[in-house]
Amino acid sequence: MSVPWWRSAVVYQIYPRSFADADADGVGDLRGITERLEHVRDLGADAVWLSPIYRSPMADFGYDVADHTDVDPIFGSLADADALIARAHELGLRVLLDFVPNHTSDLHPWFAESRARRAAPKRDWYVWRGDDGVPNNWISQFGDGRPAWTRDPATGDWYLHSFLPEQPDLNWDEPAVEAAMHDVLRFWLRRGVDGFRIDVAHRLGKDPELGDNEPGRRHDEDWPSVHVRLAGIRRVLEEFDGDRLAVGEVYLLDQRALAPYITSGDELHLAHNFFFLRLPWSAERFRAAVDEFELLTRAGGWPAWCMNNHDHSRTATRYGRDRARVAAVLVLTLRGTPFLFQGEELGLTDGAVPPEAIVDVDGRDPERVPIPWEPGAGAGFTTGRAWLPVHPDAERLAVAVQQGDPASALELYRTLLALRRATPALQHGSYRSVHAAPDVFAYVREHEGERLLVALNFAPFPRPLPAEADGARLVLSTHAEPRAGELAADEARVLELGRARG
Ligand code: NOJ
Repeated sequence: MSVPWWRSAVVYQIYPRSFADADADGVGDLRGITERLEHVRDLGADAVWLSPIYRSPMADFGYDVADHTDVDPIFGSLADADALIARAHELGLRVLLDFVPNHTSDLHPWFAESRARRAAPKRDWYVWRGDDGVPNNWISQFGDGRPAWTRDPATGDWYLHSFLPEQPDLNWDEPAVEAAMHDVLRFWLRRGVDGFRIDVAHRLGKDPELGDNEPGRRHDEDWPSVHVRLAGIRRVLEEFDGDRLAVGEVYLLDQRALAPYITSGDELHLAHNFFFLRLPWSAERFRAAVDEFELLTRAGGWPAWCMNNHDHSRTATRYGRDRARVAAVLVLTLRGTPFLFQGEELGLTDGAVPPEAIVDVDGRDPERVPIPWEPGAGAGFTTGRAWLPVHPDAERLAVAVQQGDPASALELYRTLLALRRATPALQHGSYRSVHAAPDVFAYVREHEGERLLVALNFAPFPRPLPAEADGARLVLSTHAEPRAGELAADEARVLELGRARG
């Protein structure tokens, strides 16, 4: 069996509102993305994942879908989507869309029908309860502690929303909902997309009895039915040729709970690992997490690794700029498919968003500020007024400025992606962590006798290299002048070891 493309791929996440604005309205759009796709190709990535582009009132910036089979006018048209997919394919890039199956917008025609009256044919497409008070203790995932229920004036019943009241949850216990959402997948698969990132995939299964969440047992997510539903989605992908990919946002902070989503062989191909993404900066913690997930997936299942996305403070802010370079080496040298978030290759920190410019309901504007392409007003992102303030360091961190500067984040990422592409041991090799000094996380990747040692210093002071490094050849360092025998503060190094004897 040939290896599916996504096993050796690096995926680059585009947040369409903030990538490139071709029509000068201050919001990024599909034409802008198409014009800038060469940046992704030149970076060395293999695929793009676009955050939602569908028609949406934008209460959650596209994660509130009002029409799954049309493009929001702010982003362009279906023709622009077709042109983007065609251009990406010409450049050798695959395209993943964001599939948002847990909920729709409250302005989706399905919800309009459902809420109108109790006897509406689509009433059961959403989750309704006729109780006097709030039906249970489930709360909105937006961290504001508010109930996940809103009473709808039309009938006086409560509807469920895992996120905003403007995002009513679809009822996946209703077979017609599943069938309709499968048709959405087919619509885009026919248009040539190579797969989907599945929003809050773990919430497609909930307790149909709507039991209260209890300590140690959630009833509003990760219910056993989720696995059947993800297998259903996988079967739809398999109706099409070309190894179409399903990567799930499975926001479970326990790797033992995450693994079953990818190990059965008939559900998700990949799942994002938020336990890993949220770790504090500690060599021991990262090593333990990676070792554990390796064990959990060794028999089957392929890891996906990411440290940044549109919902989290960026690594350069969370950990600091120098450590973000170490994090880049980590994500791009582990066994598994790396996912990068636009701007991480520029070493962007979170942007500065003053209170009067805040637009997101959950504090995520800083990681979503526009990509700086060039110095000057609008940073090459827009000639209009950007929807979020451009990055305060745009002049210094713009793509055009970093290009060709060997000390830049951009050139580090390009070098790392080129190395990964040229090195079977990094793409397909086994992983084994090795004994190292405190604060150093080190591992060997090995494939058909080719062996690479990766050594990451998490400490802000020098640390010894692991014994394996003796006599090894330097392949890459985050530092300009790596020293023999020791790692500098915040240094990551890749070394080639002698070939293993057969
Ligand atoms: C996860 C998405 O990544 C996030 O941006 C969104 O707000 C929620 N799911 C709801 O769709």
